[in-house]
Amino acid sequence: MRVLVTGGAGFIGSHIVTSLRRAGHEPVVLDALLPGAHPTVPDPPEEEFLHADVRDAVSVRAALRGVDAVCHQAAMVGLGKDFADAPAYVSCNDLGTAVLLSAMAETGVRRLVLAGSMVVYGEGRYECPRHGLVRPGPRLPEDLEAGRFEPRCPVCGSELTPGLVGEDAPADPRNVYASTKLAQEHLTAAWARSVGGTAVSLRYHNVYGPGMPRDTPYAGVASLFRSALARGEAPRVFEDGGQRRDFVHVRDVAAANVIALEAAGGLPAGALTAYNAGSGHPHTVGEMAAALARAHGGPRPVVTGEFRLGDVRHITADSSRLRRDLGWHPEVGFDKGMAEFARAGQRASAAVGG
Ligand SMILES: NC(=O)c1ccc[n+]([C@@H]2O[C@H](COP(=O)([O-])OP(=O)(O)OC[C@H]3O[C@@H](n4cnc5c(N)ncnc54)[C@H](O)[C@@H]3O)[C@@H](O)[C@H]2O)c1
Ligand SMILES: [Zn+2]
Repeated sequence: MRVLVTGGAGFIGSHIVTSLRRAGHEPVVLDALLPGAHPTVPDPPEEEFLHADVRDAVSVRAALRGVDAVCHQAAMVGLGKDFADAPAYVSCNDLGTAVLLSAMAETGVRRLVLAGSMVVYGEGRYECPRHGLVRPGPRLPEDLEAGRFEPRCPVCGSELTPGLVGEDAPADPRNVYASTKLAQEHLTAAWARSVGGTAVSLRYHNVYGPGMPRDTPYAGVASLFRSALARGEAPRVFEDGGQRRDFVHVRDVAAANVIALEAAGGLPAGALTAYNAGSGHPHTVGEMAAALARAHGGPRPVVTGEFRLGDVRHITADSSRLRRDLGWHPEVGFDKGMAEFARAGQRASAAVGG
């Protein structure tokens, strides 16, 4: 298959390109090399590379020539600096997706795999001992300031037990980035209905691994810790370190993309099918920081009690549907993956993919 990988010079995209090539496919990369993701201009990737923006319809139409499927990774990621970033997020992620989909509609490309995100769920799934399944709202600044990090039952205020989020959980995006990731899915579903296309959204959980961007306001938490250790500093863990996440290795995410691209032909046309892509083994942010510090041989993490509004407390996936339907098997376990990441490089300033 000839596959257009948008954002193919990025962290996840570059691993997808490698996996596609290994599986005998022909990747084509389109990437705008955004300065937020690439502080200095990287070397161009080895494959066919188009330095262009997904919002540029002319370039996108050219990139789609002879393409069988699109793997759409291009997006502005992370929480950004502040609300002033909102127009840039919406433009890159949603206008960009709309331009891509309209060019696909025009050129007859009918297969799409989208980089979705677990951020569409907001706070995960919780159980109250008295009220069963509940959906706590955003945490209040005064609770966070007082160190009350756990969301409480919205009915009775009891402590809650976090559980695994399935694909059918209601969407509840809590920040601008999350809203744009949800809108990408809605646009993609509208495209699929309108042209009879097949679309898969892989809702990645916390992806980590070699080539992860260094610390910027757009980077993931594993990357911030890894950068601190590289400077000889202790990782600074926010809240009390008890936030639960599902850390999934980038090579497993790349494999999921290849499987989804290959399987998309057999999935229902005219609809978007969403799959959680997590390792299935949740860990706390504190555990992750400790694992990295151990493997790196650096100072032990410090728990700071700081917080970011818009962060959720626990979000962990039930990824059994992706395993069952498409036969995906994540292969890199937490200990091995974190040990490798602690030693391997992050995205170096002069190279793509690390
Ligand atoms: N890293 C994670 O943990 C994670 C989790 C969930 C979802 N995702 C999604 O995975 C995808 C890839 O993320 P990543 O972590 O590799 O980030 P990244 O920043 O390393 O890669 C994104 C790439 O897209 C490019 N890009 C951005 N806007 C573009 C535009 N308008 N036109 C062309 N290229 C553009 C950037 O230059 C960059 O190379 C994103 O869609 C992101 O939302 C990532
Ligand atoms: Zn209750």
